[in-house]
Amino acid sequence: MQASQLLVACFFLIIMLLRSRTFAKNVNYDHIRHRSDPTPFPNSFKCFTCDKAKDNYLCNRWAEDKWCPQHTHFCKTVHHFNTQGKSTSVTKKCATREECHAVGCHHRLDSGHMECVSCCDGMICNVEVPTNHTNAVFSVMKSYRKSDACRTASYSITIASALLLLLQLQP
Ligand SMILES: *[C@@H]1O[C@H](CO)[C@@H](O)[C@H](O)[C@H]1NC(C)=O
Repeated sequence: MQASQLLVACFFLIIMLLRSRTFAKNVNYDHIRHRSDPTPFPNSFKCFTCDKAKDNYLCNRWAEDKWCPQHTHFCKTVHHFNTQGKSTSVTKKCATREECHAVGCHHRLDSGHMECVSCCDGMICNVEVPTNHTNAVFSVMKSYRKSDACRTASYSITIASALLLLLQLQP
């Protein structure tokens, strides 16, 4: 291969690299959905937020999906219901990891109600309410960290292939 071809190949790779970086930066789900409501800081997210709504519908219906403070990383849901399974109270909020330690269901002796607590991470992840031990859990997807890792990996692979190409083309 000639030097001019090598130059063209390198140029192409650099363009591709720059494009993928710009693309990754610009494609931000939050910016698309909330153009007038820019993300306040990196990895920021929202939770459904309500205080002692009568049921899940009324919570979500009137919930402010507001940006969580920077020290919180999870959405927490506390669901109270009676022995017939009918909701009596739904509370949703942004939460720290410590506030998410007590997930699960237990019987509240004071009120005679069941209480189920769940936590999750991710943009507005607390849509549903926990109703039993299967869904009253701390579910962590680490979605944003995964996509970051993915981005870094593809970036490294592109650089590695560029280097390999350069080495192979050495006379
Ligand atoms: C837990 O609740 C979900 C949703 O209400 C239901 O689909 C599931 O079957 C329940 N699981 C158990 C073990 O009761």
